[in-house]
Amino acid sequence: MNFIEFETEQKLRGGFYTEPAIASFLIRWIKASNPKSVLEPSCGDGVFLQAIDEESLKSVKRIAAFELNKVEAKKASCRTHLPVLVQNSDFLLWYLFNGQSEDQFDAVVGNPPFIRYQYLPTKQQLLAERIFAQLRLPFTKHTNAWVPFVLASIKLLRPGGRLAMVIPSEIFHIPHAQSLRRYLAEQCSKILILDPEEIWFEDTLQGTVLLLAEKKRTVSEKGLGVAIIPVKSRQVLACDPEDLFQRAAYTNGATIEGKWMPVFLSVSERSLLSELRACKDIKRFVDVASVDVGIVTGANGFFLVPDATVREHSLQPWAHPMFGRSDHVRGLVYSDGDHETNKKIGLPANFLWFEEEEIKNLPKNVRAYLEIGLNQKLHTRFKCRTRKTWYKVPSVYSAPIAMLKRAHHYPRLVLNGADAYTTDTAYRIQPLGIKPEALVLSFVNSLTCLTAEMEGRHYGGGVLELVPSEIERVLVPIIKATEADLKAADRRFRSAKSNSEFLRMQDSIVLGKIGVSRSDQEALHAAWLKLRDRRHRTPSGEIAERAIEAE
Ligand SMILES: C[S@@+](CC[C@H](N)C(=O)[O-])C[C@H]1O[C@@H](n2cnc3c(N)ncnc32)[C@H](O)[C@@H]1O
Repeated sequence: MNFIEFETEQKLRGGFYTEPAIASFLIRWIKASNPKSVLEPSCGDGVFLQAIDEESLKSVKRIAAFELNKVEAKKASCRTHLPVLVQNSDFLLWYLFNGQSEDQFDAVVGNPPFIRYQYLPTKQQLLAERIFAQLRLPFTKHTNAWVPFVLASIKLLRPGGRLAMVIPSEIFHIPHAQSLRRYLAEQCSKILILDPEEIWFEDTLQGTVLLLAEKKRTVSEKGLGVAIIPVKSRQVLACDPEDLFQRAAYTNGATIEGKWMPVFLSVSERSLLSELRACKDIKRFVDVASVDVGIVTGANGFFLVPDATVREHSLQPWAHPMFGRSDHVRGLVYSDGDHETNKKIGLPANFLWFEEEEIKNLPKNVRAYLEIGLNQKLHTRFKCRTRKTWYKVPSVYSAPIAMLKRAHHYPRLVLNGADAYTTDTAYRIQPLGIKPEALVLSFVNSLTCLTAEMEGRHYGGGVLELVPSEIERVLVPIIKATEADLKAADRRFRSAKSNSEFLRMQDSIVLGKIGVSRSDQEALHAAWLKLRDRRHRTPSGEIAERAIEAE
């Protein structure tokens, strides 16, 4: 978990600046529409203002720029020869109270601050919330400062005006940006996103994209939708942005109603998916299983311990098998053998469960162990202090199947053969009307992996995470399978040379059994690989190691 006190000043004001070459590229695009007025809502040290100057936008008569940081605002006003008044004030505040009574802008450019809502001062939190309310859009406290910035910027554009911004790549998939996706699609005639295959802002680990959107000329104009152009390298910055904008293939309708991940797929990939969605042997996860979060201990370091700790404090009667971390599970089955191995190599594979309410009823050695927790002030931690008895972990039960919340390559289900407990790093899965072995085996295939990529979310570092509502929408082809079938798959998984190789083997078994042709299996696999590789991109543009590793 991140805490505000550990964040840098630069991160708390979202102060990561755009490279001049990127700013010039975006300015060249707005130049093609001969703007008379331009807005830069968070100008930092003025890279976009300098680019307006350098690209000789002769048509421009009015520039408005805002920057909250006094020193940076000063730098920005010195960085251009144009008569720009850089206002050292809050753009969101200005937007709500003054901006809308002024003339609209022909173009908005910039790179809005990326700051988690929780880290914003209360005043800015309220301003952000008011912007959503004013536009009658659903608001969530999971939002991030860049979202209200883009919303307000679109609102301030005149009909036919252009918005050219550097924004986080989470626009495609993050649930809190759904209001923005909807608003952009409603308000704009064309939305082009240039999606770099490498991370352009190394310091932040935050993937960024270039957003080029043109506002509709009339309310009744039909929008063409969204286009994505994957960009191999900075060489794209030498291209004519207007040409890219005019020639891109835009997608509209149901494809862009939710997350924008389907836009990454080709028309044939999308139509294959909708064909398979209608197949009777392919179910949504919610129809074949229920998902519950794992056990929340509130202090994993204290409640999940290796054998040595159990022995040292004689806690054997309170120690129960547990897994939950990626290095605990090496296959599709978590067996007694795996558990023994984990214990032997010193992993924290024991969950300490103290059910007794009255501390005085516990033996001396347990009281002494709990004393260690008290000295570490664990009883004051949020999850522990909200319990009646701080050390009595609630909701302790095991499920037949577990699924780790996060995956590096693809999510997989794990048959809980050791009847172990799992922490909240894993979900507890209960199959509905299907044998656990069959569900675990059926789950590993390129169709399920592809839909998991499309439903899930990912952050810096390229890890895929799915919350229960996202898992529920994943598609699973259901085949019959015995315990022996799963054991054989488990052996193949453990000895496979790569994740991709194992998926291909599974595709021929799982997808083959329900009648998906070899070429469609290949198409699904290639589509999954495309999204997986995109998620794994690195600052240098390399794709993360494809070999199988501990997810
Ligand atoms: C990501 S930087 C981008 C700066 C510049 N546009 C660029 O592209 O290099 C975002 C800037 O927004 C400023 N900022 C943050 N909150 C603001 C607000 N409410 N109003 C105006 N500026 C703000 C930060 O100080 C930071 O300089």
